[in-house]
Amino acid sequence: VDPVEEAIAAFREGQPVCVHDFDDREGETDIIYPAGAVDVDAVEQLRNDAGGLVCVGLSGTVADAASLPFLSDAIDHPASETDHLAYGDRSSFSLTVNHRDTFTGITDEDRSLTITEVAEFAAAVENGSPLDAEDFASEFRAPGHVHLLRAADGLLDERQGHTELGIALAQAADQPPAAVVCEMLDDDTGRALSTAAAREYAATQGIPFVDGEGLVERLG
Ligand code: 5RP
Ligand code: CA
Ligand code: ZN
Repeated sequence: VDPVEEAIAAFREGQPVCVHDFDDREGETDIIYPAGAVDVDAVEQLRNDAGGLVCVGLSGTVADAASLPFLSDAIDHPASETDHLAYGDRSSFSLTVNHRDTFTGITDEDRSLTITEVAEFAAAVENGSPLDAEDFASEFRAPGHVHLLRAADGLLDERQGHTELGIALAQAADQPPAAVVCEMLDDDTGRALSTAAAREYAATQGIPFVDGEGLVERLG
């Protein structure tokens, strides 16, 4: 079976996908979930099996509705960096947030609540609800423990990071444009998990494994 079709089908069912970007970009594999499907067990899996930062990518449209900036544009500090990163892209980081009903914000329960509520906000915007920054702020506070990412407006035509790959998958699967991404790290070396080991993990867990090239070819 075609791995891209498998990935879209998994997303449609609220299941995760492993996505390796490009060997000449980050060269990392992220576990990616449609955000609306993330529960406590999924956060536990992301923190134990992936180990990177748990982030929610949003489409430019959703981010605009909530007035979510690129963090690099928003922070007025000499450390703020709008230049390209080591692997040639700009950062997609926006604000960090917690849902207002969380306690510390970091527990699996708290992060899953924040993530599912962000997904609901994205779904509402996608369905035409006239939501704005005040509506977003009535539900979420910043800073928090879930990193929001802003996908490029031109999606894969403009940038081909896990942020855009996740949103493109969500679109193809008729899911709201909110995708949770988390890098897979090697427990022993602390480096990015090798592609072979990431493929092995995906195979043993029954998770589709796709790469950026395959996704861009079909969804770009
Ligand atoms: C946030 C990151 C990760 O690389 C994540 O995959 C999203 O970024 P990108 O779109 O650059 O791949 O930087 O932890
Ligand atoms: Ca990155
Ligand atoms: Zn990435």
